[in-house]
Amino acid sequence: MCGIIAYNGSDDAIPYLLDGIKNLEYRGYDSFGCALESDGGLTIKKDIGRIDDVINEYKLRDLSSKKAVFHTRWATHGGVEQKNAHPISDCTGRLAVAHNGIIENWTDLRDELSGHIIKSDTDTEVLAHIIENRLNAGDDLTSAVKFTFERINGSSSFVVIDTKTDNLVGVKKGSPLVLGLADKGNFISSDVPSFIKYTNKVVYLYDGDMVSVGKKDYEIVNLMGKDHTHDIATANLSSKDIDKGDYEHFMLKEIMEQPNLIKNLKDKEFKEVDEAAAVIRGASSVYIIGAGTSFHVARLGARVFRENGINAIPVQGHDLPSYKKVISDKDVFIIISQSGETADIINSMHIIKNNKKIGIINNEGSTLAKEVGIFIPVGAGPEKAVAATKTFTLSSFYIVLVAMAAVGKKDLAVNDINLLNVNLYNLFVPSVIDAVNAVAGKIKDLESIFLLGRDLDYVLALEGALKFKETTYIHAEAVDASTFKHGPLALISDKAYAISLVSEPLRTSMLSNLHEVKARRGNVIGISDTNSELFDMFIRTPEGGMFSFISQAIILQLLSYKTAVLKGIDMDHPRNLAKTVTVL
Ligand code: F6R
Repeated sequence: MCGIIAYNGSDDAIPYLLDGIKNLEYRGYDSFGCALESDGGLTIKKDIGRIDDVINEYKLRDLSSKKAVFHTRWATHGGVEQKNAHPISDCTGRLAVAHNGIIENWTDLRDELSGHIIKSDTDTEVLAHIIENRLNAGDDLTSAVKFTFERINGSSSFVVIDTKTDNLVGVKKGSPLVLGLADKGNFISSDVPSFIKYTNKVVYLYDGDMVSVGKKDYEIVNLMGKDHTHDIATANLSSKDIDKGDYEHFMLKEIMEQPNLIKNLKDKEFKEVDEAAAVIRGASSVYIIGAGTSFHVARLGARVFRENGINAIPVQGHDLPSYKKVISDKDVFIIISQSGETADIINSMHIIKNNKKIGIINNEGSTLAKEVGIFIPVGAGPEKAVAATKTFTLSSFYIVLVAMAAVGKKDLAVNDINLLNVNLYNLFVPSVIDAVNAVAGKIKDLESIFLLGRDLDYVLALEGALKFKETTYIHAEAVDASTFKHGPLALISDKAYAISLVSEPLRTSMLSNLHEVKARRGNVIGISDTNSELFDMFIRTPEGGMFSFISQAIILQLLSYKTAVLKGIDMDHPRNLAKTVTVL
C-alpha cells in the first residue's frame, strides 16, 4: 500500500501536493512525509501520525518548492517510527525516494551497502543507496534507476527526487503509478483522483515503465523490454467525485450514492456483459476470483451461476495456486476487484495466463483492468472509505447480470434492477433510518454479534460481518443459519444478539432457525421485507426481485456506519487497514 504524489513544474508544488496527498490517504495513514527541492538543496519533513497532524506540526503550508514528492505510509518493513517514514534519503541528502511495494531481496542488498549510513529499518532505503552508488560512479539518474530496478525483486513502484537532476524519475512495477499532465507542470502519482482538480489529462503506466518527468515534458522507457503505447487519456472524473461534499464521512456519502448509481443503470446497453456471456457459454467451468468484499461478490455470483446450471467456483485470490492442476484451458475466469491492484490476485495471474479473463473492476486504469480480455467497468466512481460499499452493490449487480445473460435471461435481470430502482426510494425513509439508529444504539457496546442468513443471505451476512469488523471493531461472526445446530447454537444465551436476514424463498426455514435462537433467549434483530413476532427489533427493506439482496446489503452498511459513529470511530480510516492491498 502507501500513496505517492510528486510534482515538477513552474508553479509552487506545495498547495497541489498538500491537497493531493489527502486524496491518497485511503492508501495508508500511519506516517506522512515529503521531500522538496529549494535553493538547490533537499528538505525532508516526515513523522508518524495522520497527514493533517504532521502538516500542522511541521508548518508545511509555509514551505514552497517547484519540485517535490509526498508520501503517505502503511507500514510493511519497519515499524511505525519517524525514521521509517518516507521519503528516505541517501547518505549525503542529495536525493530521496518515496516507495510503494516490497523489495523481497532487500536484506541481501543491504548487506552489500557497507560504508553507507543506514538510517531506517525499511526495505526502501536500499533504493536510495544503490542509486547513490551509481550516481557516484558517473551514471545519470535514469541509468542509476534502471540499474537499481534490475537488482530488486518483488513489486515496487517508486519516485526519486535528486537535487542534481532537473527531472523526477519514477518506476512502476506492481503498485500503480500514473502521470498527470497539467499546463504548468506534471504530476506522477499513485492514482488519478489525487490530481484531478488540476488536470484530467493522464497517461497510465505499465509494469516496468520508467518515466522521467520534466516541468513540461516526460519520457517513458520500459525496463522489462515491453512495447506499450502510452496515449494521453482523458480521466472521466470531477472534483465532486472525490470530495465529501456535505457528508461528514466518505462512507456515508458512498452509501447514499447507491440509489443514484442503480438508477443510472436504467438506460445502459451492457455490451461488455453480452461479450462476457458469449465467452462463458463456451466455458467448461467459471472461476470467480476476489478478495475480502470482492470475494463475497464472487461467492454471491457463483451461487447465481450454479442455480442457473453453470458450474462456477468462487476462489480467494491467494488460493488460486491450489487449483493449478485442475484448471483447463476451457475454463473462464472472472476477476472482481474495486482497486484492480490487489496483490493476492495479481500474484496469481500467471497461473491463468492462457485462459479467457473477464474483469468486473472499478478502477479503470488499474493493472488488472489491463490484464483482462473483457473489461466490465463497475462505474461506481472513486470509493475512498476503506470499507467497500457502493462497489459491493454494483459489482454484485454485474456478476448476476453476466450469469443471467449467459443463460439468455438478461432481460429478466434488467427488469428486476428497474424494480429495485423504484423501490430503493423507500429505503432511506425516516422509519427505516430511525430503526437503524435504534439498533445501532442497542449494539454499540456489545463485544460480539452474530449475523445469520441462509444461502444468498448467508453471503450477505459474511459481507455484513466484514463491515462490522472493519468499522466498529465489534467481533462479528456470520453463521449460515442452516448449520447453526451443528455447533454455533452453543453460543446463544440472553447475552447473544443475532442480526438475521430473512427473505424468500427460505423465509420459513430461516424463521424456524430463529425459533431455535429465541428458545435459548437470544435477541433477534430482523432485516426483512416483512415483520415477524420473532424479531425483538426490526428493520424493513423493500422488495427488488432477484436484487432484493442489495437493499439488505445497504442496510447492513448503514448499520455498521451508524454504530461506528456512535462509538466515535473514524470509520473512513479504520485502524491497521488501508483501502488498496498491494502487499501479499
Ligand atoms: C472490505 C474491503 C476489502 C477489499 C479487499 C479487496 O470492505 O474493502 O476487504 O474488498 O481488500 O480489494 P479489491 O476489491 O480492491 O480487490
